[in-house]
Amino acid sequence: MIKKWWKDAVVYQIYPRSFQDSNGDGIGDLKGIIQRMGYLGELGIDAIWLSPVYKSPQDDNGYDIADYQDIEPMFGCLDDMEALIAEAKKYNIRIIMDLVLNHSSDEHRWFLEAKKSKDNPYHDYYVWRDGKEGVPPNDMKGVFGGSTWEWVPELKQYYFHQFSVKQPDLNWDNPKVRREIYDMILWWMDKGVGGFRLDVIDQIAKEPDKKITQNGPNLHKYIQEMSRETFQKGDLITVGEAWGATHELAKLYSNPDGSEFSMVFQFEHIGLDQQEGKEKWDLAPLPFLKLKQVLTRWQTEIYNCGWNSLFWNNHDLPRIVSRWGNDKEYRVESAKMLAILLHGMQGTPYIYQGEELGMTNAAYEIEDYRDIETLNMYQERSEQGYTKEEIMNSIHAKGRDNGRTPMQWDDTENAGFTTGTPWIKVNPNYKEINAKSQVNDPDSIFSCYRKLVQLRKEYPVFVDGKFRLLLEDDENIFAYERQNAEQKLVVICNFYGETVEMPLSEEIEDMKLLLGNYKEIKDVTMLRPYEARMYIN
Ligand code: GLC
Ligand code: CA
Repeated sequence: MIKKWWKDAVVYQIYPRSFQDSNGDGIGDLKGIIQRMGYLGELGIDAIWLSPVYKSPQDDNGYDIADYQDIEPMFGCLDDMEALIAEAKKYNIRIIMDLVLNHSSDEHRWFLEAKKSKDNPYHDYYVWRDGKEGVPPNDMKGVFGGSTWEWVPELKQYYFHQFSVKQPDLNWDNPKVRREIYDMILWWMDKGVGGFRLDVIDQIAKEPDKKITQNGPNLHKYIQEMSRETFQKGDLITVGEAWGATHELAKLYSNPDGSEFSMVFQFEHIGLDQQEGKEKWDLAPLPFLKLKQVLTRWQTEIYNCGWNSLFWNNHDLPRIVSRWGNDKEYRVESAKMLAILLHGMQGTPYIYQGEELGMTNAAYEIEDYRDIETLNMYQERSEQGYTKEEIMNSIHAKGRDNGRTPMQWDDTENAGFTTGTPWIKVNPNYKEINAKSQVNDPDSIFSCYRKLVQLRKEYPVFVDGKFRLLLEDDENIFAYERQNAEQKLVVICNFYGETVEMPLSEEIEDMKLLLGNYKEIKDVTMLRPYEARMYIN
């Protein structure tokens, strides 16, 4: 196996607007992150994936970039960004920038020029089709609802946007666009960033006339060119967000020869609790055996020929403890179980801010939501005749704002996030769930995560061990082993709230307990609610 620094690294994702506000305007900022660097050092993570902080009108909270080489004033300025890179370095933490390259903001200089006239040099930076008002080129629907085509009367043309109307798609078929992007990436590398996360990268090579959005025919050609022109000139961690990745495609994205990215960030496990062929809002119970199969196949299929990200959460997903754990009486146990289950696998683990505290979903009224996807869906489904109750159930279960409520630092007003009015309500459970009460408690969820980060560095089997699923058909237990030439690691998790028998006593006979989520084990042959254990020989 090729050794790379990021193979035993753990990444922590920060959603800046919700992490720490330093000036009382209710919005998290770069100075706030700098203030909290000690906390991240304590957790022991190696890199921060920073959701976008570039200049942006914030239509999609920064995933609509108006200037890739400047910072949104609400978050700070370029000097703050440099200060953040320098401060992180003191803790051996690298900064991963979020590159949103499928689209820009409609307020980006390129787009403002592009819509001036058809022969403007920037016109071809975006995707345009001639047409008639009211008759879009085809019936493609955007990710946030509505048509992907927006009419510009002055030009008598439509532009293509896979996300909101304020996120026009960039035309990757134009070599000038690609060159501008590469120069911008090199500029950030020069500033000393440690890597990049590539937003919806599987959608850049779209071919709207053929209704192709994901995995367009030129996709890997473009990624390989970008990698050659930029990433390969440095020792970076690069991660491609790809909703449509299969195992075969993952081998391209994360080819060990370094021709594309370090790793892929794919979502097959994340889509399991929704009705087949429907949207994420159409809820279905989690098929547990399927979850085991899916995670297992990602462990085995790309072993030695690719690299995966390990995650339960990000800024687009609900909180895992509320989703597949139990955020009531077994919140602590189930949050730790989910952590142990994931962090024993092969890949690079991602911890999303607050996950290490067991932060939960929030059930707000519609007025308290801010996310464009949630608000558009509310509107659309109301018009389609869904009841308010149905819609709110979906939002409470799957809405992206579940992961975007302010970080819960302590039990003071607004959870220590801001002295002003937070841009989105703080989860009312902050008095009970907060960092202050966990950092020095050896039995806290935070301490469990810290331990998992350390173990990955201490035992190479976490990085290179071959994965084998145990108890394949067991309806309650998720168990597996990892084996390399020297050692074996066994992870056993009760995924549910009932006590069950533990049929692996022989397997673990001569092994030592590395980590568990209950204080002591009185009876090794039983697993208590959400009990998780990690053994090593
Ligand atoms: C990615 C981001 C999401 C954003 C979308 C459009 O999926 O994670 O937050 O809305 O891309 O940029
Ligand atoms: Ca602020």
